[in-house]
Amino acid sequence: MLLEARNLRVTYRNAQGPVSAVDGLDLAISEHEVFGLVGESGCGKSTLVKALLRLMPPRATVEADVLRFKDHDLLALSDKRFRSEILMREIALVPQSAQNSLNPVHRVGAQIVEAIRAHSNVSTAKARARVAELFDIVGLQPELMDRFPHEFSGGMRQRAMISMALAFEPALLVMDEPTTGLDVLVQERLLRRIREIRERVRSSILLITHDIGVIAQTADRIGVMYAGRLVECAPTRRLFEQPWHPYTLGLKNAFPSILDFESELISIPGSPPDLSRPPAGCGFAERCPFVLETCRAQRPPTVNVGAGHVSACTRTQDIEHIRAAATEKVTWHC
Ligand SMILES: Nc1ncnc2c1ncn2[C@@H]1O[C@H](COP(=O)(O)OP(=O)(O)OP(=O)(O)O)[C@@H](O)[C@H]1O
Ligand code: SF4
Ligand SMILES: [Mg+2]
Repeated sequence: MLLEARNLRVTYRNAQGPVSAVDGLDLAISEHEVFGLVGESGCGKSTLVKALLRLMPPRATVEADVLRFKDHDLLALSDKRFRSEILMREIALVPQSAQNSLNPVHRVGAQIVEAIRAHSNVSTAKARARVAELFDIVGLQPELMDRFPHEFSGGMRQRAMISMALAFEPALLVMDEPTTGLDVLVQERLLRRIREIRERVRSSILLITHDIGVIAQTADRIGVMYAGRLVECAPTRRLFEQPWHPYTLGLKNAFPSILDFESELISIPGSPPDLSRPPAGCGFAERCPFVLETCRAQRPPTVNVGAGHVSACTRTQDIEHIRAAATEKVTWHC
């Protein structure tokens, strides 16, 4: 296993009190795997990434039963060793809104050269040669290195940021919402490019999005996150063909086009719980049409429902009924 987190808890602490943004999450990513993490806004996707990369604000806490990357116990590793051995070299991030992260007053190539030299002892000339190689990998002409960010389109800026993250061929490349803010055609091209990158560079990829359609054709496995927890995880095809968790069934209804062009779009009513007052039981209970009293009383256990497929719902034994009812609009809007 490349990355393993068990019972990961990440809490922001500010004047208004604690916010349990990641609340008992289990996650495992294998070598050379593309793992898609999907979940609606505010469910804790970026917090998970920031906790992994130690980018949390000073008063936040990161706790876990296990947090392991390769042979490193990330809970025990010093900040100094994390920065010199892991950051960028082993785990690299393309942050959310990456296309706006470039400094507008410096040439794009010079910014990537600077990032490479901050993490290694190479000369400027060698770093420039590496940027040319990286641009080629992400499908940018090397001549574009000497342009300014405003001379790039949004998709090109995003690819430049991906090239920066690939500088040391990290074992794990994390992309937080890489396609958000791009038009559909540019999104499609970028996703194709990500698949090509995956063939050329042997990195694992953690691809984060709120759009289940974005990862359908890119990820090997998908984890569905809700209110700080992973509620379902399965190989991609299985997740689409046989979802088990009511939230995933609701998500599938909300993105029917990738599966069935004739289906009616059904949205999930309501909104996620306030993570400053996390619910005692299932986080989805307030919106779930299949809720029982027991769901509110205690957290649903994560149940193994098939080959590499887990779901955190107390009603797995009722899945046939739940699956049939979940396709009816009246179920969600009664
Ligand atoms: N600095 C912070 N202090 C307190 N709470 C925060 C802070 N940053 C995020 N949160 C809260 O943590 C929760 C998770 O936020 P996060 O940004 O991780 O969600 P997300 O899934 O990445 O959402 P999006 O899809 O909008 O990017 C939210 O309730 C958010 O309001
Ligand atoms: S545990 Fe209960 S409330 Fe939660 S998803 Fe399952 S049926 Fe719905
Ligand atoms: Mg986010």
